[in-house]
Amino acid sequence: MPITVTSPLLPDLNEFNELLGQIWDSKWITNNGSFHKKLEAALCEYLKVPYVSLFTNGTLPLLTALQALRVTGEVITTPYSFVATTHSIWWNGCRPVFVDIDPATGNIDPDRIEAAITPKTTAIMPVHVYGKPCDTKRIQEIADKYGLKVIYDAAHAFGVEVNGESILNAGDMSTLSFHATKVYNTIEGGAMVMHDAETKKRIDYLKNFGFANEVEVVGPGINSKMDEIRSAYGLLNLRKVDTAIEARHQVAIRYREALRGIEGITFFDDMPGVRHNYSYFPVFVDEEKYGMTRDELYFKMKENGVLGRRYFYPLISEFSTYRGLPSATRENLPNAHKMADSVICLPMHHALKSEELEQIISIVSQQ
Ligand SMILES: Cc1ncc(COP(=O)(O)O)c(C=O)c1O
Repeated sequence: MPITVTSPLLPDLNEFNELLGQIWDSKWITNNGSFHKKLEAALCEYLKVPYVSLFTNGTLPLLTALQALRVTGEVITTPYSFVATTHSIWWNGCRPVFVDIDPATGNIDPDRIEAAITPKTTAIMPVHVYGKPCDTKRIQEIADKYGLKVIYDAAHAFGVEVNGESILNAGDMSTLSFHATKVYNTIEGGAMVMHDAETKKRIDYLKNFGFANEVEVVGPGINSKMDEIRSAYGLLNLRKVDTAIEARHQVAIRYREALRGIEGITFFDDMPGVRHNYSYFPVFVDEEKYGMTRDELYFKMKENGVLGRRYFYPLISEFSTYRGLPSATRENLPNAHKMADSVICLPMHHALKSEELEQIISIVSQQ
């Protein structure tokens, strides 16, 4: 059995069956049912945010946020992310403008944002890559100076806090993914976090075709509602997520202890004041110092039954839809290219066994 890069957090099957029984009895399986309501309330409390709207995945809240904020023209974003970030801009008929990343964090470099602003810019869409918080204060200052909206793709940032405050409260809106591969999952699923009841109401309309009531459609909505079965699954997984994050933390501690000092391998350390969620463990290979390229290590791991992931590689700006954009050139994005060309995410999940961890470490440390 190969060691996989991730493993889904699953609720207790008996408890899930019990809730399925309740759903069967109620015959209410979607459209803002009781589990949907309970999960939204429970997530507000867990995440320390005022309003949450559940979605059927983490891509649709990105699309819907841009719609709701009536974003047009150009949107500044990062090429070092999952492709859904940029796709959401494209699907809204806007032009993505790529800005290079800060190599210290992997996140969009705030120092480079202003140079990319034009009269057509209306929004910034940063990503908290690997759950590492962006410099939200700097980004907000720039947004306020130029009157721009900020939508955070927080797909990786479930439960991340800075000095005790949720990172999800930054910007105009933040979006989450609850995909099976994430720290917290509802199989497929996602959410949007917003600041006020009025926005929550609008978003709830938009995710249900724009229906405000039986006969009124107040906007060009879409269908992105989470169903009752996933909501119930999500309620159960919420009980387990803290234990899962702590197990991931222990994996990160062991990786750091074992890999620190391996010539040509670097990784991120925890940031001061941040509650991390340990969603990924990316390492960066300097081929000259390490004596092997990133891809050689990736395939060596694979031959030895360890499935890492080159995440994020290739850069979004390299995909055919986007590579013709003026901001997609290699010269504009040197740090992002360097990171994409050197990264491997090592297996990281709550159920990684210590023998598996040691096997991965021995391959990477070339023992
Ligand atoms: C940064 C980022 N944004 C958006 C998404 C899209 O989320 P989903 O797969 O739930 O649609 C993902 C998921 O992989 C992601 O990693």
